[in-house]
Amino acid sequence: MRYLAQTSATPLGLQIEDASGCWLTDHKGRRFLDLIAGIAVNSIGHRHPAVFKAVQAQLDRYWHANVYGEFVLASQVSLAEKLCQIVAQAQTRATNKESPPLQFYPTNSGTEANEGALKLARKYTGRKKFVAFHNSYHGDTFGSLSVTGRDVYRKPFEPLLADVVFLNYGDLSGLDQVDEETAAVIAEPIQGEAGIIVPPDGFFATVRKACDRSGAVLILDEIQTGFGRTGKWFAFEHWGVAPDIVTVGKALGGGFPISGFLAPLSIMETLSRDPPLCHVTTFGGHPVASAAAAAALEVLKSFQLPERAAQIGCLLKQRLHLLKRTFPDLIADVRGLGAMWGIEFSRHEICDAFVRLALKHHLIVCRTLHGRPVIRLSPPLIISEGELDWALSVMEGILREIRESPASTSRKQTQAPLSN
Ligand SMILES: Cc1ncc(COP(=O)(O)O)c(C=O)c1O
Repeated sequence: MRYLAQTSATPLGLQIEDASGCWLTDHKGRRFLDLIAGIAVNSIGHRHPAVFKAVQAQLDRYWHANVYGEFVLASQVSLAEKLCQIVAQAQTRATNKESPPLQFYPTNSGTEANEGALKLARKYTGRKKFVAFHNSYHGDTFGSLSVTGRDVYRKPFEPLLADVVFLNYGDLSGLDQVDEETAAVIAEPIQGEAGIIVPPDGFFATVRKACDRSGAVLILDEIQTGFGRTGKWFAFEHWGVAPDIVTVGKALGGGFPISGFLAPLSIMETLSRDPPLCHVTTFGGHPVASAAAAAALEVLKSFQLPERAAQIGCLLKQRLHLLKRTFPDLIADVRGLGAMWGIEFSRHEICDAFVRLALKHHLIVCRTLHGRPVIRLSPPLIISEGELDWALSVMEGILREIRESPASTSRKQTQAPLSN
């Protein structure tokens, strides 16, 4: 608390000693089942041996070599090749049309990937305006924050980018705002930090049409939803649309920091000229992180983890709806897809008590960032049925405890109150 800058006054403060598979161990040797996976990062579990091996092999050769794509770094190239193929195949599955050849621009964090995507859209179209959605979350640097739809986070840092219009997520009525001035529409295919909001069927098909009609670029932010999380490789596959630019991060690196954006060559090439080096990064696609990511993709593929996420989704859907029916006084809604679910409680105090009691019972859950009293479940996709079953039984016990002892909801909050 003294030396490390804090992002809230009341961090959970768990002291992590080690992590393996779906479990974290603290300094007292207590084990916790990780139901958030570092917020959708550790999809293949903690310290996967295949990633460990790939990282060790890269560490034995070289670490940082040079910047801006000046050198040929094998782990970067291999990652880009795999990723372009995976995204192209997903686009083809989504649309039944051949995807154009794609390129990958590697960055370090999710927000940086979105920054690059926004700049690329402006450079490619020569237009300025962005259309984004209320309650979205795209990251905390100035560009990404400018298209993040939450005033409470935006206001302290204004002025942000001008020319951003916010529409209601899932609502078709404002889409005439996507016009000939619009460089890009940016959206999450399922809103994560808003409290796991799944848009209605047909919404993204209409957004896609609005982009095609106006010449705007469609950027889909798959940073949280990507790499199997929702039961398909990419969440846009649920909606039958292909984005022009897709941003990725989080689970990509198998636990190492790497992100990026993909676009057809015809769009991406605009970043290499007028002037050259107009968008560069020192560490983007670090060889060690690239090696980790390439290995993580192989794990996702060979263990069919997107399919596994869909199975997790069936189980969660059934059991969470049962919890909602059993505790209608405590749970207002449950929603999600694949291994990305939210439980919305009827009050903030219940949500906070649930997080605190979960920790006491060795389960790690957390609130979504925005104002609703929602906890997220985004476990590693390798979680076993036995582990999930145990977690759901513990969650049921916690809800009983809250119901039987209302005093448990009146204690100190685990996280700063986040409300409008
Ligand atoms: C959809 C989405 N976009 C962007 C980001 C920002 O990613 P990062 O924290 O790596 O900058 C997040 C982080 O939660 C996210 O969920």
